[in-house]
Amino acid sequence: GREEEIRALVGRMTVAEKLGQLQQLSWTGATGPGGSQTAAAERAAKKGELGSVLNILGARHSNALQRIAVEESRLGIPLVFGLDVIHGFWTTFPIPLAQAASFDPETARVDGEVSAKEARSQGIHWTFSPMMDVTHEPRWGRIAESCGEDPYLTAAFAAAKTRGYQGTDLKAKDRVAACAKHFVAYGGAEGGRDYNTVDVSESRLRNLYLPPFKAALDAGCATVMASFNTLSGIPAHANSHTLTEILKEDWEFDGVVVSDWNGVGELLPHGFAADGADAGRIALHAGVDMEMVSTHLADHGEELLAAGRIKEERLDDAVARVLRLKYALGLFENPYVDESEAVPGPTPEARQAAREVAARSMVLLKNEGGVLPLAPGKAVAVVGPYADSRDLHGTWAGPGGEKFPPVTVLHGIRNVAGRGAKVTYGVGATKAADVVVVVVGEGAKLSGEAASRSDLGLPGDQEELIAAVAATGIPFVVVLLNGRPLTIGNWVESASAVLEAWHPGIEGGNAIADVLYGKVNPGGKLPASFPRNVGQIPVHYNHENTGRPYDPENPGNTFITGYLDVDRTPQYPFGYGLSYTTFELGEPRASVERIAVAELKRGERIEVEVSVRNTGEVAGDEVVQLYVHDPVASLVQPVRRLRGFERVTLGAGESTVVRFSLGAEDFGFWTNAVDGRFVVEPGRLDFFVGTSSRATASCTLHLE
Ligand code: IFM
Repeated sequence: GREEEIRALVGRMTVAEKLGQLQQLSWTGATGPGGSQTAAAERAAKKGELGSVLNILGARHSNALQRIAVEESRLGIPLVFGLDVIHGFWTTFPIPLAQAASFDPETARVDGEVSAKEARSQGIHWTFSPMMDVTHEPRWGRIAESCGEDPYLTAAFAAAKTRGYQGTDLKAKDRVAACAKHFVAYGGAEGGRDYNTVDVSESRLRNLYLPPFKAALDAGCATVMASFNTLSGIPAHANSHTLTEILKEDWEFDGVVVSDWNGVGELLPHGFAADGADAGRIALHAGVDMEMVSTHLADHGEELLAAGRIKEERLDDAVARVLRLKYALGLFENPYVDESEAVPGPTPEARQAAREVAARSMVLLKNEGGVLPLAPGKAVAVVGPYADSRDLHGTWAGPGGEKFPPVTVLHGIRNVAGRGAKVTYGVGATKAADVVVVVVGEGAKLSGEAASRSDLGLPGDQEELIAAVAATGIPFVVVLLNGRPLTIGNWVESASAVLEAWHPGIEGGNAIADVLYGKVNPGGKLPASFPRNVGQIPVHYNHENTGRPYDPENPGNTFITGYLDVDRTPQYPFGYGLSYTTFELGEPRASVERIAVAELKRGERIEVEVSVRNTGEVAGDEVVQLYVHDPVASLVQPVRRLRGFERVTLGAGESTVVRFSLGAEDFGFWTNAVDGRFVVEPGRLDFFVGTSSRATASCTLHLE
């Protein structure tokens, strides 16, 4: 079988060839510091001393380099080509944070599927996505690539996106291998400063940061990328507890762990390795299988092996993992891509999918006096620095980002409003308008990697612009284009409506107009809390209680956790979002009142059901959410944890019943034991069911 073939091939390899398989070089130098490695990559490929290349673009180029590896090297082992296809290759979908706001993992699956098809046709076999770093830090720029603050929501999206990329067969011409990143706890960066220190307990690691990775691997994710941060003093690239004990031993992961860009080299500035040889040794033995960009293993591997500082067994295991990926991708049978079949750009179907996903991702934060949806006959003035801007793709747009600009908001509004509509552009035009649409936000460069901010207000003079529009007295709608939660408290009161549209991608303008004109009724929800001000961060729904929490029965008590100068709640909480219609939920009911822990452990499940009714005049979507709270436990618990959500579409007056199936995994938690112990404790459990993390309707279950 396959494993014997791999073993036989490893047996024929020289040490240099083995070390070569563990090396990945960058064709161009765009995604990290340092120049491109084109010439070195070509030389190494010829010698059979290169495993992979990242950042190579175009079917013709990747075929040419592949031909060198396959036809000119001694063993002819094909290269695997990787690229950051994060939310689109040609067809740019909304950023991942936006997709998470849809509370519909199908959006991520569709993005994965469209992206995989375009990328693979151009010679890319492997995407460094999905990113699944849970974070409570809106200052952190990479929140844009994440699914926000909740591990359950993130896990659902991580699994769906993995399925979208990989399908059921990595050999297929329209699939790519996925990469679960960044392993692990990168989102815990102190102060939200990228690459910064992370110090977490074992229980927080396992309850908050690890679940999305487990979900992605259960969905078949072929590879994992190590993260730039330290974890309680040990750099993630040197962390045998996470990379080997948890990932490879407990979870039995047999795929590739790739380093991040120069992540092995960064063991030196971390102060964890004495020199390059030491860095290579430490990373390999911690569990890194492939070194991206830095070359410490390739440079020092032979001397390390000769000196007995690395073990041949571990080296062979790493090589086998890389070869396993190449076999799974069918590269030995089919190393090249058919250049005549290369997808040249976004197809109409792909654009339509991106438009639907973008509209589904938008969150209506405010809508007073029914100003939205815009009535077709209204005179609309579109203003603001992003009104006719092409800066809508957001961070990590793929090659399509430059080649295929997005539909601007102004164009989208003109398209959707139709001929004869009174749409004007620019601040000077506002006098004759019935309603003003103010398009503001932060450009793509203000979020993403190495793009943390200490101020989360609208940059520049955009708040002044909003104030000027407010001064006209004309009702106005603010459309936000951004890659993270912003602080909007300075102006939100003055606006009639606010639509959070994120960085919506190639069809952004059309999708925004679809929502503004009510062709699509918004149904997205916030995947991360919007703080009132920066000083309040971290402010997230799934926090633990202190011994002195706010007590609504005793509001006069000032000896509570909080700040003197700002309310203890966020501006908008996790799970929040409005619609053009209204919904009413019934009382939630659990299928049983009591159940034995032993039965749950045997796989028994319970159901919590709730009815939901569209009580308004138009069809719309609601996301019904279920939260669990364990009021007394041997580990202090979050005040609530999302354990179920379903986005339903209901016509006016229509109703349905949503049923959540829950089991041991929803009721228990990981303790602080380093060898991993998941416990379900007897006692009462509270369920809160509603339309945001502030859900109040509840029912209980007793575990015996
Ligand atoms: O995949 C990325 C990673 O997320 C950040 N550093 C660079 C890698 C490759 O481009």
